[in-house]
Amino acid sequence: MTAVTRLTAPAPGWTAATDVVVVGSGVAGLTTALRLRASGLRVLVVTKAMLDDGSTRWAQGGIAAALGEGDTPEQHLDDTLVAGAGLCDEEAVRVLVTEGPEAVRRLIATGAHFDADAEGSILLTREGGHHRRRIAHAGGDATGAEISRALVEAVRADADVEVVEHALVLDLLTDAEGRTAGLTLHVMGEGQRDGVGAVQARAVVLATGGMGQVFSATTNPAVSTGDGVALALRAGAEVTDLEFVQFHPTVLWLGPDAEGQQPLISEAVRGEGAHLVDADGTRFMVGQHELAELAPRDIVAKGIMRRMRETGTEHMYLDGRHFGAPMWEERFPTILASCRGHGIDPVTQLIPVAPAAHYASGGVRTDLRGHTSVSGLYACGEVACTGVHGANRLASNSLLEGLVFAERIAADIVARDRAGKLTPRHQDGAQAAVRVPLLAPEARAEIQRLMTRGVGVLRSAVTMAEAADGLAALTAEPADTGKGEQPQVETWEATNLHLVATALTAAALLREETRGCHWREDFPDRDDATWRTHLISSQQDSLLTTLPQEH
Ligand code: SIN
Repeated sequence: MTAVTRLTAPAPGWTAATDVVVVGSGVAGLTTALRLRASGLRVLVVTKAMLDDGSTRWAQGGIAAALGEGDTPEQHLDDTLVAGAGLCDEEAVRVLVTEGPEAVRRLIATGAHFDADAEGSILLTREGGHHRRRIAHAGGDATGAEISRALVEAVRADADVEVVEHALVLDLLTDAEGRTAGLTLHVMGEGQRDGVGAVQARAVVLATGGMGQVFSATTNPAVSTGDGVALALRAGAEVTDLEFVQFHPTVLWLGPDAEGQQPLISEAVRGEGAHLVDADGTRFMVGQHELAELAPRDIVAKGIMRRMRETGTEHMYLDGRHFGAPMWEERFPTILASCRGHGIDPVTQLIPVAPAAHYASGGVRTDLRGHTSVSGLYACGEVACTGVHGANRLASNSLLEGLVFAERIAADIVARDRAGKLTPRHQDGAQAAVRVPLLAPEARAEIQRLMTRGVGVLRSAVTMAEAADGLAALTAEPADTGKGEQPQVETWEATNLHLVATALTAAALLREETRGCHWREDFPDRDDATWRTHLISSQQDSLLTTLPQEH
């Protein structure tokens, strides 16, 4: 069968213009938008679902920052570097941990309420890999929801922030000199701006969140289809560390065939003293690491997988029965309701848990100001790779990263605008000259199946080669573009998932070692001599390449 090749973004049906387009409505996107507006720039926020549907709202545990007595940015830095297994960019981590506490205070000033004691001091919990209580939380286990509420309210209160909801970004527009000149997008709805449109802009900030939907079971919502990474690759930007997919150790196990977004059981539950046990009640993490159940996330996920193999079972258990009902109700109301909704009462029963895809430690490569390798294109939050996470993100560092680097990006855009360095307004003839094979919406399930089987928690050359072959075969399928003549959102989502899955698999195949959350059965050891480096993927003329970073 012949591959069907077409522009991802057909001729726009409508156009608009602004200074900066921010894509995404999580903590990174909305913080960037608010800071830009405060400097007087025109901002358009584009979001795939509703403004309050960003992936931030799913975050349970909290936001890590050295706010507690006796804690210091230096200690936070040490824990982050250890979790990152030799691949963190120390300078980026230093920015995170030193600017983090003030950024959290500004978030509070924006309106976010964190749980506090009677004297008003912020309550802090622990999560995996942290040697101190360092995680601020809200609503017990609804931290993301509270941060999202505060930022959405602030954005809505600013009548000058224009918002386009239900809009999937397609491709970057660039001017004749290759500078960012806007983007194309597909709006689903019943408004003036339905269908494919183009927004001219002088800078674009990608804050599109993750790509967890490349796997069958994930903690990510259905909209996390790697759209930002796919856009960046098609625009020629560099993407890095894609092989480091973090599998959260404790996701509620709903059966072997469970698919789509799965309920998270926050690490904070272990931080407050719940134990991981096997069916015999043995605490199998004790003795495997000095922090036992609170070891960095990759180590706990591996510990669970090993025990599942040894015992021939499909899940382990989390035991928080000793908390008692009042603590469950007050400290973890979201998780309690979620478990009970699935017929498990954590007050009296063990919670079945297994690892599931959770977080992309890699993403679009940026510097410390959020610049990608394409002029005027920025990336922030999970879609970005600032170098903070290395081979394995430390728990609850992601909201902090989104916050800190969003502020840096806004400051950089404002400074570049004042210095006359942003792409000039009114670029005529901006192009999104990208030709790709579009996949039928049905390809999504096949991509997820291939990736789960071949490139999941445990990987080998054999399993990954099967996944790579399966992915390659998909592009030879005829592209039924969906409903009617025009491709639909589901068509582009499948196409984006395919591109990021292909790049992820290529990087995971190339990295012949086990490091952080990349676990190769055929290369079980860490190999610093060869692999203490990043893998960089990029695409030119539809040819995807993945190479070790040159030093
Ligand atoms: C959790 O609450 O366990 C998730 C927090 C995170 O992913 O950082």
